[in-house]
Amino acid sequence: MTRYVIGGNWKLQILKVEEAVSIAKNIAEALDKLDLGTTEVFIAPSYTALYAVGQAIKGTKLKLAGQNMYFRDRGAFTGEISPDSLKDAGCEYVLIGHSERRRIFGETNAQINQKVKKALEKGLKPVLCIGETAKERADGQMETVNKEQLAESLADVEPEQLSKVVIAYEPVWAINNPFLNPDVEIKTATPEQAGAAHTFIRRWLVDTFGETVGPQIPIQYGGSMKAGNCVDLLALAEINGGLIGGASLSSENFMPIIEAALKEMKK
Ligand code: PGA
Repeated sequence: MTRYVIGGNWKLQILKVEEAVSIAKNIAEALDKLDLGTTEVFIAPSYTALYAVGQAIKGTKLKLAGQNMYFRDRGAFTGEISPDSLKDAGCEYVLIGHSERRRIFGETNAQINQKVKKALEKGLKPVLCIGETAKERADGQMETVNKEQLAESLADVEPEQLSKVVIAYEPVWAINNPFLNPDVEIKTATPEQAGAAHTFIRRWLVDTFGETVGPQIPIQYGGSMKAGNCVDLLALAEINGGLIGGASLSSENFMPIIEAALKEMKK
């Protein structure tokens, strides 16, 4: 069975180090009481909180992620963050190509591809985020857009490297972000919509990277996932966890999603 990965994407929401440490400790304590099996759970706080959160959760089951990184190790790149700095802070995972990076900050598939390759070279596990907008879906472009993002973002990645990659399918129209969705009613994908997209992504992974590694890659669903809607989504064979924004900002909201995923794993 494909392993599950659950991620908390804190975006620009928790602004004080002390608060980030306190929430992280609560999640880590709750997590340590559970048998996670092969399931992995990470949180991605702001850069300035990474080191302190990393120290606070050291030795627990909770893992740390960066929200982005640059594709060079060091140099004159004002405002960027090096993969080596993420590792120094204790990160094991890094989000790459989140829709907010693509659509608000203009990141291209070519840049995202360089980031994925650099993360793999550095031993960080990239969580490659993909997803179509409401308009692209309405125009019948769901498969085309996701296929293009996958193919261009994973160009030159070898099948043996792919086992370290996690894919996050996050339809843009489901992400709880009015800046991404100015004229769209934001709603979680139905299990039918998410299931069709995940099946398409799985097929592409198997066709491109082969029967051995293709089925093993976790495909997270992201976009307004919460306790109230996660059970039906996580029940689908090709949904192997979630990337959670708003509902990951407290242990009370995040833990029920993790517990639902663990229940699915045990079935
Ligand atoms: P959301 O964010 O759960 O708040 O919709 C998900 C994401 O953007 O990763």
